[in-house]
Amino acid sequence: MREGQHAAAGYDDLPDGVVVADGSGTVVAANLAATRILDVQQSELVGVPLAKVLPLLDPQGRDWWECTDPYGGLSTRVRQPERMLSLVRPDRPDLALLVTATYVRDDKHTVERVVVCFRDNRARAKLERSGAELVSVVAHELRSPLTSVKGFTATLLAKWERFNDDQKLHMLQTINSDADRLTRLISELLDVSRIETGRLEVRKQVVDLPELVQRDIDSRVAAGEAADRFVLKVESTLPELWADPDKLAQVVGNVIENALRHGGGTVTIKVGTDGDYATLEVSDEGEGIKREALPRIFTKFWHDAKRGGTGLGLFIAKGIVDAHGGTIEAGNGDDCGAVVRFRLPAGTPSFAD
Ligand SMILES: Nc1ncnc2c1ncn2[C@@H]1O[C@H](COP(=O)(O)OP(=O)(O)O)[C@@H](O)[C@H]1O
Ligand SMILES: [Mg+2]
Repeated sequence: MREGQHAAAGYDDLPDGVVVADGSGTVVAANLAATRILDVQQSELVGVPLAKVLPLLDPQGRDWWECTDPYGGLSTRVRQPERMLSLVRPDRPDLALLVTATYVRDDKHTVERVVVCFRDNRARAKLERSGAELVSVVAHELRSPLTSVKGFTATLLAKWERFNDDQKLHMLQTINSDADRLTRLISELLDVSRIETGRLEVRKQVVDLPELVQRDIDSRVAAGEAADRFVLKVESTLPELWADPDKLAQVVGNVIENALRHGGGTVTIKVGTDGDYATLEVSDEGEGIKREALPRIFTKFWHDAKRGGTGLGLFIAKGIVDAHGGTIEAGNGDDCGAVVRFRLPAGTPSFAD
């Protein structure tokens, strides 16, 4: 047993479980991670047959040791590729493990040692599940506008003569806006993927933040929003801001859009300074962000189902602000609705930027 403990000592810092068996299939060493994952003492592992220590079944329910036959199989085989296996013990729920094995052979190709490595697969399984959830949310989000595009187009094609111009116009407008929504959704998804893979490119140049906000307001007014819904307040001295103007316009547009759609009343936008930071604050006079929603609004797909939207806006805004080295936060004002504030480092960028 002392020898077993000694042999495993070097492996104790590994995050993965390691169990070593001798030429007869008896466990001679196990590291700390192995005892943790298997939830047993080291002394309960050493001296016990390998297949008893790790009762593994493959996804088809076959005994992995019988299938791989480490001591009797091909005399040239030196390893088993990584596989997802279930550890099945009567005393506890099945455990999903990612398992690999190495066979150490002597001159005559006889197996001297079998080293089995395994890791708890729960973290990876969770990641895969969240990937699958993402696919299902995205598919759902894409499907509803597409259903309307397809439905109205098919109706118009089949029954063109039966509709008057007003009806046709209405259908075409719906198709047009749903197609816009699809385009927006897809470009948002591309942004999400860039943010998540760290591929968001920030091309910095001098940005006039008040002008950028004013342009956003102007285009909304041109599109029919009442001009008196917006108040822009700009501090007299502003620092020089280096940022990516297109990306910043996206953040500003998103936050103002939220104030209009989820909030209400007058939307006040303040551009200012806070130490070495340029700041921008957007507040509205709506009901504010629900208290229970506050911790979640910057996460992907979290949104108020009643008001359309994809729930990607603030996630992307945060991704862009983070990429600039800034911070974004949201809350509710005492006498107004939601307040969304972000800060961006101001001043000439260093050469590292
Ligand atoms: N100004 C606001 N007032 C109230 N709720 C807001 C405001 N801004 C954002 N929210 C809440 O945060 C959620 C997430 O916003 P966002 O990520 O932009 O997604 P979307 O606008 O597509 O719903 C919104 O669905 C809404 O519930
Ligand atoms: Mg939004």
